[in-house]
Amino acid sequence: MNGDPRPRYFGTNLKMHQTADETVQFVARLARIASSGVQLFVIPPFTSLAGAIGVAHAANIWLGAQNLHWAQSGEYTGEISGRMLSALEVDLVLVGHAERRQTFSEDDAVIRRKLEAAQANGLRAILCVGETAEERRCGAAAEAVLRQARLALDGIADPSRVLVAYEPTWAIGEGGEAADPAAISEVTAALRDLLGSMPLLYGGSVNAGSAGRYARLPGVDGLFVGRAAWTPDGFESVLRAAAT
Ligand code: PGA
Repeated sequence: MNGDPRPRYFGTNLKMHQTADETVQFVARLARIASSGVQLFVIPPFTSLAGAIGVAHAANIWLGAQNLHWAQSGEYTGEISGRMLSALEVDLVLVGHAERRQTFSEDDAVIRRKLEAAQANGLRAILCVGETAEERRCGAAAEAVLRQARLALDGIADPSRVLVAYEPTWAIGEGGEAADPAAISEVTAALRDLLGSMPLLYGGSVNAGSAGRYARLPGVDGLFVGRAAWTPDGFESVLRAAAT
């Protein structure tokens, strides 16, 4: 468990926002706050990765991809493999984000294969897990999240290369409803027990007003932020709020 209330990891998922040039400028602006004792990461669209990797690495910021295919290569038009990401020297890849699970119908079996592909290519992964509003209403939130985590992680080759982000699906994005930290602490505690030394991040409508409360949840090691961190100023103010 993380006894220090400061986050150890803090980053943003840019989703389908920013051109390649915009990401270079964004990461360059973050470089001046990158010595905060927190591992920062940015997960831009694929088209931004090659251009931003140098500036990210010069500032010790991890750069990540939002998705990968489970195969190394093949007849999969429009897809990107772990081998390709690894050749770009990206630091991590996102697996199982709620938008992939819901909008692109990725199930637990697909997510497991993608996590294995990340591991086979030496990529650090952020595995996203989170219950639906319906599962929460039925009192099955912890059960649903633990099931997702187990299906992805049981027997995985190198757990030390995985971070887990708990993001309740109902708390994510424009239509999301920010979670009451007390109401989700049952799930973060259950995940903490399951994960051993794997880092646990929280995400879903986190902003400068709420970041401190989420970062102080017992066992939570970091924050994974969307909208509130899409500008350098926004990123910095959420980070500051989380760290104090
Ligand atoms: P949000 O996105 O902070 O805009 O809710 C979080 C996420 O999708 O990871």
